[in-house]
Amino acid sequence: MTELPDGVERRNFDGQQRLSTQGTPVYGEPTDGDWRLWDAGRSKLGAMLESGMAVDLSGVDSVLYLGAASGTTVSHVADFAGPTYAIEFAPRPVRDLIGVAEDRSNLFPLLKDARKPESYAHIVESDLDLLVQDVATRGQAAVAVDNAQFLADDGLLCLAIKARSEDVTADPETVFRRVREELASAYEIVDSERLEPFHADHLGIVARKR
Ligand SMILES: C[S@@+](CC[C@H](N)C(=O)[O-])C[C@H]1O[C@@H](n2cnc3c(N)ncnc32)[C@H](O)[C@@H]1O
Repeated sequence: MTELPDGVERRNFDGQQRLSTQGTPVYGEPTDGDWRLWDAGRSKLGAMLESGMAVDLSGVDSVLYLGAASGTTVSHVADFAGPTYAIEFAPRPVRDLIGVAEDRSNLFPLLKDARKPESYAHIVESDLDLLVQDVATRGQAAVAVDNAQFLADDGLLCLAIKARSEDVTADPETVFRRVREELASAYEIVDSERLEPFHADHLGIVARKR
Protein backbone atom coordinates (compact mmCIF):
# COMPACT_ATOMS: atom_id res chain seq x y z
CA MET A 1 0.00 0.00 0.00
CA THR A 2 1.14 3.53 -0.69
CA GLU A 3 2.88 5.26 2.22
CA LEU A 4 2.55 8.99 1.73
CA PRO A 5 5.61 10.83 3.04
CA ASP A 6 5.43 13.91 5.24
CA GLY A 7 4.56 16.79 2.95
CA VAL A 8 2.16 14.83 0.71
CA GLU A 9 -1.49 14.84 1.76
CA ARG A 10 -4.87 13.90 0.36
CA ARG A 11 -7.00 17.04 0.52
CA ASN A 12 -10.38 18.06 -0.74
CA PHE A 13 -10.40 19.56 -4.24
CA ASP A 14 -13.84 20.01 -5.86
CA GLY A 15 -15.40 17.46 -3.50
CA GLN A 16 -12.75 14.76 -4.10
CA GLN A 17 -9.78 13.66 -2.00
CA ARG A 18 -6.75 14.33 -4.20
CA LEU A 19 -2.98 14.25 -3.70
CA SER A 20 -1.32 17.57 -2.96
CA THR A 21 1.96 19.13 -1.86
CA GLN A 22 2.87 22.52 -0.43
CA GLY A 23 4.70 24.88 -2.75
CA THR A 24 4.52 27.53 -5.42
CA PRO A 25 2.15 26.49 -8.27
CA VAL A 26 3.87 25.39 -11.49
CA TYR A 27 1.41 24.25 -14.17
CA GLY A 28 -1.87 26.02 -13.45
CA GLU A 29 -2.94 23.38 -10.94
CA PRO A 30 -5.74 24.20 -8.45
CA THR A 31 -4.66 25.30 -4.98
CA ASP A 32 -6.08 25.20 -1.46
CA GLY A 33 -4.17 27.78 0.56
CA ASP A 34 -0.51 26.88 0.04
CA TRP A 35 -1.39 23.28 -0.94
CA ARG A 36 -1.44 22.52 -4.66
CA LEU A 37 -3.11 19.62 -6.40
CA TRP A 38 -0.75 16.89 -7.66
CA ASP A 39 -2.53 15.91 -10.86
CA ALA A 40 -2.14 12.16 -11.50
CA GLY A 41 -3.26 12.69 -15.10
CA ARG A 42 -0.17 14.86 -15.65
CA SER A 43 2.30 12.86 -13.56
CA LYS A 44 3.26 9.16 -13.76
CA LEU A 45 4.58 9.21 -10.18
CA GLY A 46 1.32 10.87 -9.10
CA ALA A 47 -0.59 8.08 -10.88
CA MET A 48 1.51 5.43 -9.11
CA LEU A 49 0.64 6.99 -5.75
CA GLU A 50 -3.00 7.58 -6.65
CA SER A 51 -3.57 4.02 -7.81
CA GLY A 52 -2.26 2.57 -4.53
CA MET A 53 0.96 0.95 -5.77
CA ALA A 54 3.46 -0.21 -3.14
CA VAL A 55 5.43 3.04 -3.17
CA ASP A 56 6.90 3.66 0.27
CA LEU A 57 8.23 7.21 0.13
CA SER A 58 8.30 7.68 3.91
CA GLY A 59 11.69 8.93 5.02
CA VAL A 60 12.81 9.77 1.48
CA ASP A 61 15.26 12.66 1.49
CA SER A 62 17.64 12.70 -1.50
CA VAL A 63 16.31 12.12 -5.03
CA LEU A 64 17.54 11.73 -8.61
CA TYR A 65 14.83 12.44 -11.18
CA LEU A 66 15.45 11.43 -14.82
CA GLY A 67 13.32 13.06 -17.53
CA ALA A 68 12.28 16.15 -15.59
CA ALA A 69 10.85 18.03 -18.62
CA SER A 70 9.42 21.41 -17.48
CA GLY A 71 9.17 20.28 -13.88
CA THR A 72 5.53 19.22 -13.46
CA THR A 73 6.27 16.13 -11.34
CA VAL A 74 9.73 16.97 -10.03
CA SER A 75 8.32 20.19 -8.52
CA HIS A 76 6.01 18.07 -6.33
CA VAL A 77 8.93 15.79 -5.42
CA ALA A 78 11.04 18.78 -4.40
CA ASP A 79 8.10 20.06 -2.31
CA PHE A 80 8.34 17.05 0.04
CA ALA A 81 11.93 15.77 -0.41
CA GLY A 82 15.41 17.11 0.32
CA PRO A 83 18.08 17.57 -2.38
CA THR A 84 16.45 16.73 -5.73
CA TYR A 85 18.64 16.43 -8.83
CA ALA A 86 16.59 16.84 -12.02
CA ILE A 87 18.08 15.54 -15.28
CA GLU A 88 16.62 16.65 -18.61
CA PHE A 89 18.40 16.67 -21.98
CA ALA A 90 16.15 19.02 -23.98
CA PRO A 91 17.22 22.66 -23.56
CA ARG A 92 13.77 24.19 -23.95
CA PRO A 93 12.03 22.49 -20.99
CA VAL A 94 15.17 23.05 -18.91
CA ARG A 95 14.57 26.80 -19.26
CA ASP A 96 11.16 26.33 -17.59
CA LEU A 97 12.68 23.95 -15.04
CA ILE A 98 15.17 26.62 -13.98
CA GLY A 99 12.19 28.92 -13.26
CA VAL A 100 10.59 26.17 -11.14
CA ALA A 101 13.88 25.77 -9.24
CA GLU A 102 14.02 29.50 -8.46
CA ASP A 103 11.20 28.90 -5.96
CA ARG A 104 12.78 25.68 -4.61
CA SER A 105 16.29 25.92 -3.18
CA ASN A 106 16.57 22.08 -2.97
CA LEU A 107 15.88 21.50 -6.70
CA PHE A 108 18.92 21.28 -8.98
CA PRO A 109 18.18 21.23 -12.75
CA LEU A 110 20.87 19.60 -14.90
CA LEU A 111 20.94 19.73 -18.70
CA LYS A 112 22.30 16.20 -19.11
CA ASP A 113 21.61 12.94 -20.97
CA ALA A 114 20.34 10.21 -18.63
CA ARG A 115 22.04 7.61 -20.86
CA LYS A 116 25.40 9.12 -19.82
CA PRO A 117 25.46 9.02 -16.02
CA GLU A 118 29.22 9.56 -16.07
CA SER A 119 28.50 13.12 -17.32
CA TYR A 120 26.81 14.05 -14.02
CA ALA A 121 28.44 11.62 -11.56
CA HIS A 122 30.69 14.44 -10.30
CA ILE A 123 27.64 16.62 -9.45
CA VAL A 124 24.99 14.19 -8.18
CA GLU A 125 25.66 12.74 -4.74
CA SER A 126 25.65 8.98 -4.16
CA ASP A 127 23.64 6.88 -1.68
CA LEU A 128 20.40 8.53 -2.78
CA ASP A 129 17.07 7.36 -1.32
CA LEU A 130 14.97 7.53 -4.48
CA LEU A 131 15.40 7.35 -8.26
CA VAL A 132 12.40 8.48 -10.30
CA GLN A 133 12.52 7.88 -14.05
CA ASP A 134 10.13 9.04 -16.78
CA VAL A 135 12.27 9.46 -19.89
CA ALA A 136 9.92 8.03 -22.56
CA THR A 137 12.79 7.05 -24.82
CA ARG A 138 14.14 3.79 -26.24
CA GLY A 139 16.21 1.77 -23.77
CA GLN A 140 14.30 2.79 -20.63
CA ALA A 141 15.39 -0.31 -18.65
CA ALA A 142 19.06 0.26 -19.51
CA VAL A 143 18.81 3.86 -18.27
CA ALA A 144 17.40 2.65 -14.93
CA VAL A 145 20.11 -0.02 -14.61
CA ASP A 146 22.92 2.42 -15.47
CA ASN A 147 21.67 4.97 -12.92
CA ALA A 148 21.33 2.45 -10.07
CA GLN A 149 24.89 3.45 -9.11
CA PHE A 150 23.50 6.63 -7.49
CA LEU A 151 21.12 4.76 -5.18
CA ALA A 152 21.83 3.63 -1.62
CA ASP A 153 21.86 -0.14 -1.10
CA ASP A 154 18.16 -0.31 -0.26
CA GLY A 155 17.28 2.69 -2.47
CA LEU A 156 13.93 2.82 -4.22
CA LEU A 157 13.21 3.08 -7.95
CA CYS A 158 9.91 4.49 -9.25
CA LEU A 159 9.91 3.94 -12.99
CA ALA A 160 7.38 4.76 -15.69
CA ILE A 161 7.75 2.73 -18.88
CA LYS A 162 6.11 3.99 -22.07
CA ALA A 163 5.57 0.95 -24.33
CA ARG A 164 5.49 2.92 -27.58
CA SER A 165 8.89 4.48 -26.88
CA GLU A 166 10.46 1.01 -27.00
CA ASP A 167 8.60 -0.39 -29.99
CA VAL A 168 5.53 1.16 -31.64
CA THR A 169 4.49 -2.12 -33.23
CA ALA A 170 4.96 -4.55 -30.31
CA ASP A 171 2.24 -5.56 -27.88
CA PRO A 172 2.79 -3.40 -24.74
CA GLU A 173 2.74 -6.50 -22.51
CA THR A 174 5.66 -7.97 -24.50
CA VAL A 175 7.60 -4.73 -24.06
CA PHE A 176 6.84 -4.65 -20.33
CA ARG A 177 7.97 -8.28 -19.85
CA ARG A 178 11.31 -7.52 -21.54
CA VAL A 179 11.78 -4.42 -19.38
CA ARG A 180 11.12 -6.39 -16.16
CA GLU A 181 13.66 -9.01 -17.23
CA GLU A 182 16.32 -6.39 -18.01
CA LEU A 183 15.78 -4.60 -14.70
CA ALA A 184 16.45 -7.80 -12.75
CA SER A 185 20.23 -7.37 -13.11
CA ALA A 186 20.13 -4.35 -10.77
CA TYR A 187 16.73 -4.32 -9.06
CA GLU A 188 14.22 -6.46 -7.24
CA ILE A 189 10.75 -5.51 -8.43
CA VAL A 190 8.33 -4.77 -5.60
CA ASP A 191 5.26 -3.86 -7.63
CA SER A 192 4.29 -3.19 -11.24
CA GLU A 193 0.96 -2.00 -12.60
CA ARG A 194 -0.45 -0.42 -15.73
CA LEU A 195 -1.12 3.29 -15.19
CA GLU A 196 -4.55 3.39 -16.87
CA PRO A 197 -6.81 5.34 -16.64
CA PHE A 198 -4.28 8.09 -15.99
CA HIS A 199 -1.72 7.20 -18.70
CA ALA A 200 -2.41 4.81 -21.59
CA ASP A 201 0.10 2.04 -22.42
CA HIS A 202 2.40 2.93 -19.53
CA LEU A 203 3.66 0.57 -16.85
CA GLY A 204 4.58 1.80 -13.38
CA ILE A 205 7.35 -0.18 -11.67
CA VAL A 206 8.46 0.07 -8.04
CA ALA A 207 11.74 -1.69 -7.29
CA ARG A 208 14.55 -1.88 -4.72
CA LYS A 209 18.20 -1.80 -5.68
CA ARG A 210 19.76 -5.26 -5.30
C1 LIG B 1 7.22 12.17 -20.55
S1 LIG B 1 8.36 13.48 -20.46
C2 LIG B 1 8.63 13.70 -18.73
C3 LIG B 1 7.52 14.36 -17.96
C4 LIG B 1 7.96 14.64 -16.54
N1 LIG B 1 8.57 13.49 -15.94
C5 LIG B 1 6.84 15.08 -15.64
O1 LIG B 1 6.06 14.24 -15.18
O2 LIG B 1 6.74 16.27 -15.36
C6 LIG B 1 9.87 12.71 -20.91
C7 LIG B 1 11.05 13.65 -20.84
O3 LIG B 1 12.23 12.87 -20.89
C8 LIG B 1 13.18 13.60 -21.59
N2 LIG B 1 14.22 12.66 -22.03
C9 LIG B 1 14.12 11.67 -22.96
N3 LIG B 1 15.28 11.02 -23.08
C10 LIG B 1 16.14 11.59 -22.20
C11 LIG B 1 17.50 11.35 -21.86
N4 LIG B 1 18.20 10.38 -22.45
N5 LIG B 1 18.07 12.12 -20.92
C12 LIG B 1 17.36 13.10 -20.31
N6 LIG B 1 16.08 13.40 -20.60
C13 LIG B 1 15.46 12.63 -21.52
C14 LIG B 1 12.41 14.23 -22.74
O4 LIG B 1 13.10 15.34 -23.29
C15 LIG B 1 11.12 14.63 -22.02
O5 LIG B 1 11.19 15.95 -21.52
